[in-house]
Amino acid sequence: MNPLCNATYEITQTLTACPKCGELLDIRYDWDKANVPKRLKDFEQRWHNRRFPLDHSGVWRFRDLLPFAADAMVCTIGEGQTFLQNATCLGNQLGMWPGQLYLQYEGMNPSGSFKDNGMTAAFTHARIVGARRVACASTGNTSASLALYAALNGFKGIVFIGAGKIAFGKLSQALDYGALTLQIEGDFDACLRRVRDVSAQLDLYLMNSVNPFRLEGQKTIMYRILEGLNWEVPDWIIVPGGNLGNCSAFGKAFGELLELGLIKRAPRLAIINAHGANTLYSVVNKLGVTWNNGQPDNVKIKSVYAGMDEANYHPHTVASAIEISRPVNLKKALRALDVMKGVVAEVTDEEILEAKALVGRYGFGCEPASAATIAGLQQLLANKTIGRHERVACVLTGHGLKDPDATVHYHTGIKTKDAKQPPAEPTWGSRANKPIQVADDMASIIKALGMASDTLEKSEKTGYVETPSSNLPFIEY
Ligand code: F0G
Repeated sequence: MNPLCNATYEITQTLTACPKCGELLDIRYDWDKANVPKRLKDFEQRWHNRRFPLDHSGVWRFRDLLPFAADAMVCTIGEGQTFLQNATCLGNQLGMWPGQLYLQYEGMNPSGSFKDNGMTAAFTHARIVGARRVACASTGNTSASLALYAALNGFKGIVFIGAGKIAFGKLSQALDYGALTLQIEGDFDACLRRVRDVSAQLDLYLMNSVNPFRLEGQKTIMYRILEGLNWEVPDWIIVPGGNLGNCSAFGKAFGELLELGLIKRAPRLAIINAHGANTLYSVVNKLGVTWNNGQPDNVKIKSVYAGMDEANYHPHTVASAIEISRPVNLKKALRALDVMKGVVAEVTDEEILEAKALVGRYGFGCEPASAATIAGLQQLLANKTIGRHERVACVLTGHGLKDPDATVHYHTGIKTKDAKQPPAEPTWGSRANKPIQVADDMASIIKALGMASDTLEKSEKTGYVETPSSNLPFIEY
């Protein structure tokens, strides 16, 4: 991503930062050698071939626009069967012209969030490089998706989550799909820092969105929106901003479509931060930092982080999925804002929950982070950034059932999470996969992983070390 470095690496390497300059890595294709269709409409030919898993997948039916893997290497489970829903009733409520509001329901993915779009691509890369153990830090959806793909594709999944920080729907998925689940004392930012260290030391394949292959899969959310609009480009795309991987992928998707001449203009982008986790908003709207041809003002960006350190600041929002104050893809998000003439807005928790109730009232529903898009849209309509006549597609990133506590609390006032619970009883289930509570230090984590240096050598040969919390045999595929 750094034009002053411009080092290149083969895709057979496993890297999540440039070894020379430390900046993020970007996937680049030699489009002359790729088999890109002349028109986007040509992708429709694949609709007729739904028994072939790659044509069935909502990600891989666009594989010519992410051509990094041979078909045989692709790990697909039929992700991306999501749809663009016209939301005229909701649009009317917001004062929009009839037929101009669309919702892209990414909660309809196999693990219930947009993450599956990226996981299928990153697992495909993991298979290409021969990885066996995969890891991530998560606010819940990445871990659910990782756990599901790991279980179905023969990998050992390890997830790091902040204790008490993720919605129960998401936690239940990681446990049920057999991932080794480490509950770290700390928030997402701390978990991500730790998992990056642990992955480097123990040779785990890192599945967070610093992995550029994740973003390749997430580009396809935009292709499906275009597909839903008969290949017409909407005026606006609205997306919540957390670690800023998704919006970065959207910017890359449209940048490439423009480069390839497959569209004539890009839609505008609105990234919505929660007020309690608003780093991008501060960097862009308060400090005026821009992409600046790949050389954003590092001094200003660092000053924001230094201020947070000094104040011992930790993000806080009801939208736990985007409770992140050190978004790793910040610079890629700046590029996306540049490509798509984007804006950044911030919304309060109250606005998020009111918007979530409105989405739910008109069907399907979504989790709080996803509803930040609708809260943001309301604000951008009110201040006339978005016109009432414009065609807007909001990405609803996660399913409403991910975080039922937030919904029940909004409608009834009952705080299910705060309710006094009796101490946990020993589980009787022979397949119970209990999370492991662990301090945020390397030695404790290595111990919890059962990978102390002597066993690590063994694990290199067998590919897997048995741990107390996942007592089922690892399935060889
Ligand atoms: N919406 C939902 C439902 C999410 O789970 C996330 C991120 C986002 C929006 C923000 O997307 O990070 O690409 O800007 N969840 C991550 C996780 C961080 O660990 O599940 P982003």
